[in-house]
Amino acid sequence: MDHFLYRDGALFAEDVPVAEIAAAVGTPFYCYSTATLERHFRLFDEALEGVDHLVCYAMKAASNQAILKTLAALGAGMDVVSGGEYARAIAAGVPGDRIVFSGVGKTCEEIATVLAGGIRQFNVESEPEMEAINAVALEMGVVAPITVRVNPDVDAKTHAKIATGKSENKFGIPISRAREVYAHAASLKGLKVVGIDVHIGSQLTQLEPFELAYRKVAELTEQLRSDGHEIIRLDLGGGLGIPYERSNSAPPLPMEYGAMVKRVLGHLDVEIEIEPGRLIAGNAGIMVSRVIYVKSGEDREFLIVDGAMNDLIRPAMYEAHHDIVPVIEAEPGLEPVRYDIVGPVCESGDTFAKGRAMTPLAAGDLIAFRSAGAYGAVMASEYNSRPLIPEVLVKGDQFAVIRRRPTYEEMINRDSIPTWL
Ligand code: LLP
Repeated sequence: MDHFLYRDGALFAEDVPVAEIAAAVGTPFYCYSTATLERHFRLFDEALEGVDHLVCYAMKAASNQAILKTLAALGAGMDVVSGGEYARAIAAGVPGDRIVFSGVGKTCEEIATVLAGGIRQFNVESEPEMEAINAVALEMGVVAPITVRVNPDVDAKTHAKIATGKSENKFGIPISRAREVYAHAASLKGLKVVGIDVHIGSQLTQLEPFELAYRKVAELTEQLRSDGHEIIRLDLGGGLGIPYERSNSAPPLPMEYGAMVKRVLGHLDVEIEIEPGRLIAGNAGIMVSRVIYVKSGEDREFLIVDGAMNDLIRPAMYEAHHDIVPVIEAEPGLEPVRYDIVGPVCESGDTFAKGRAMTPLAAGDLIAFRSAGAYGAVMASEYNSRPLIPEVLVKGDQFAVIRRRPTYEEMINRDSIPTWL
């Protein structure tokens, strides 16, 4: 459920008409709903009620400071994957002991920054990285808390570009080698093993792959404990999918996911961490765009809109489906038209949807791409010198621009000219 609903034929973000925001900030733009963000965070928090847990929002999904502050105020931890994300989390007021640091290529500089600023744990992805964290920690005279990310070789049954838990993927260490790697970790004086980490992929629409992976982690927990390691924490990653198509059957709910986690891991007396990104932010955001032209092709109608692949890359990159709806509903009874919905970027890949049935639209009409809150604004670029589009946050009947659209001048002034020119 989200808070983008029609009232008398007009799309609202909570209590604000989307058309009013478009008039104030121009198009295209991203618009997030505070109530939806909060609701989704709470669903996870409640799903794990009864076990010691921390929900660490995977901020790669949407990392605007205002979004982070909204979630941090509810007690969210953060899952970060770069020095930049760590800096954003700290700037949003998240304490270091609520931040976990994931990612396959942490640099020594990032490791040092994070150790100095405070961190809950590093999720270590390889032995060379383990050695690097140890070396930096020893040099700084501190001890780094770590988990090791294990790769359970489980098929997440999702898009190949976002599956991470098979042995051919670059992530984690093979679970078959885990005992050996943990023995190595225990011998390094700059490290303190606190648990195990796993993340098998994103946009999972079934519980089964999670359960298979978590069973392997449960077994490993017992083995590692019998080897003498103190396993006090399991980080189970993120990945629970969202319904992108309202017409399709919905993925499992956080409550069902939480029940499975408790069933599979509840007996281990560990603290549980999860790292959901998409489920918190995805349906909490829309991208609003305006139709520039309706163009008749030889055998199809093109809807040329002012948003493009540089603003929302998911359809071009993952063949992702986003529901696209008019901001002002058409009069009832009009026959739908099938449109190819495209942006102005000079690539055929700049196509959001092909043959999408919509009520008839005309130049100047506003449309909204639903489920665009996660991996939307954060993956945007300025390709074709199209400035990054603004982000707006709604709360009740208020809205605020939380990142404004840069001017052309600001965009150009980021370049610098060498002295010889
Ligand atoms: N934890 C780790 C270690 C991750 O790599 C990810 C996502 C998450 C948590 C959060 O997963 P989520 O709950 O959001 O599924 N750009 C792609 C998605 C990439 C996901 C990368 N890792 C997309 O637009 O579909």
